[in-house]
Amino acid sequence: VHVGLDVGTGGARAVAVDEAGNVVAEASSEYPLHSPRPGWTEQNPADWWEGAKTALGRVAGEVGGDVSGIGLTGQMHGSVFLDSADAVIRPALLWNDQRTGRQCAEITQAVGAERLIQIAGNPALTGFQAPKVLWLGEEEPENYARVARVLLPKDYVRLRLTGEYATDVSDASGTLFLDVKERRWSEEILDALEIPHGWMPGAYEGPEGTGALRAEAAEELGLPAGVPVAAGGGDNAAAAVGTGIVAPGLVSSSVGTSGVLFAHSEEFNPDPSGRLHAFCHAVPGAYHLMAVTLSAGGSLSWWRDVVGGDFEDLVGAASEVPPGSEGLVFLPYLSGERTPHLDPGARGSFFGLTARHGIPHMTRAVMEGVAFSLREGLEIMRGLGVPVEDVRATGGGARSALWRELQADVYGEPIRRTAADEGPAYGAALLAGVAAGTYGDVGEAAGVVSLREEVTEPDPGRAEVYGEHYEVYRSLYPATREAMS
Ligand code: XUL
Repeated sequence: VHVGLDVGTGGARAVAVDEAGNVVAEASSEYPLHSPRPGWTEQNPADWWEGAKTALGRVAGEVGGDVSGIGLTGQMHGSVFLDSADAVIRPALLWNDQRTGRQCAEITQAVGAERLIQIAGNPALTGFQAPKVLWLGEEEPENYARVARVLLPKDYVRLRLTGEYATDVSDASGTLFLDVKERRWSEEILDALEIPHGWMPGAYEGPEGTGALRAEAAEELGLPAGVPVAAGGGDNAAAAVGTGIVAPGLVSSSVGTSGVLFAHSEEFNPDPSGRLHAFCHAVPGAYHLMAVTLSAGGSLSWWRDVVGGDFEDLVGAASEVPPGSEGLVFLPYLSGERTPHLDPGARGSFFGLTARHGIPHMTRAVMEGVAFSLREGLEIMRGLGVPVEDVRATGGGARSALWRELQADVYGEPIRRTAADEGPAYGAALLAGVAAGTYGDVGEAAGVVSLREEVTEPDPGRAEVYGEHYEVYRSLYPATREAMS
């Protein structure tokens, strides 16, 4: 079997997957997230390592001797600062940390806005790793003076497992230090930001091996020493491998706390305006485009908390409301927005309320607003010439008939549902299978991903109504932006 380990934000999760793609064991272990100030988010790399050991150890307890490869994935963008003895200098800043607005402006200035998108595929965004490194230099110079290495979250766990300083190019794409097209560190960007090249780990393709399990770690975990450890991928790229998004035309539409549209691409074709992320894929030589709606399922959870009750009753009542919620439109920008506005200051709203509207209308409007937001990402992808042939629903929202129907109608595309929706750890296990030689390549590995037959077709009548409401939705942010800030 192959084991995938996800160093997530809420905890670590390990899954063991057999050659045919069946999950044979799984375990997870939670750890805390610290917010020392509003907008700041941090975690202790030591907690990741403890969580990883617990999750891996439990899985090893069930399948130990059989493990022939380990693959790593995790939350992207975070910054682990190590000194020359590999000691962690301070807690890591996370992907959702917002403290680096000033450093983003400095990066844009130093590299040039256009050049940054050409090389790194993305504009400088607060969540990415590079501004965190500059922040350390400006705000904690005594810590900065000790830095010998900067790693991403899952790669700190790799260091503890194997002793190697390594990352994979999909996760490295979230640093802003990578030349995404060339799939190697950008000397131009590192030099412009005065970052020593030696701080960066080796950058590998997702299914490449990055060393093997050290004897001490193996003993502690109950796994055989010498098991190969695959580079793996950032959580979204690994999850895409796990749902079979490994060829052109395939797109996943995930509604979790955030919503993510993920499209495989054979070419590096960044969005010149930076509204979509352009990253390397965990498939060697391939890329991906990604649209992120920050509050997707998160908007519905918020609404459920506001009105009380349970999801099933709320969504059941919303299913009875006519499409378009009788003119009520919701903007889901509860925690600012990435795609398409790149605006941490954006705010949510209900627009078009009348005395006819009640809780069921508002619930439906919340869900429709999220689907409209995801469609904006899809339209940008279509505009860049990305083929969209097969859209697969994943994430918690894939389990709801109304979420699937909304996506089908609002996108005007049939929506397929994946059977084993096991998330990033599952994809990392498949990448480990390639590194271990069980599968010839990522395409063959992804062949074990079984899709449910369930397909939700768009309804032409509803799609037309949504087409009209989508135009209204799109007009609202530009018309209200000033008033929001
Ligand atoms: C991707 C992103 C999140 C994190 C946390 O750009 O910010 O998906 O990887 O899971």
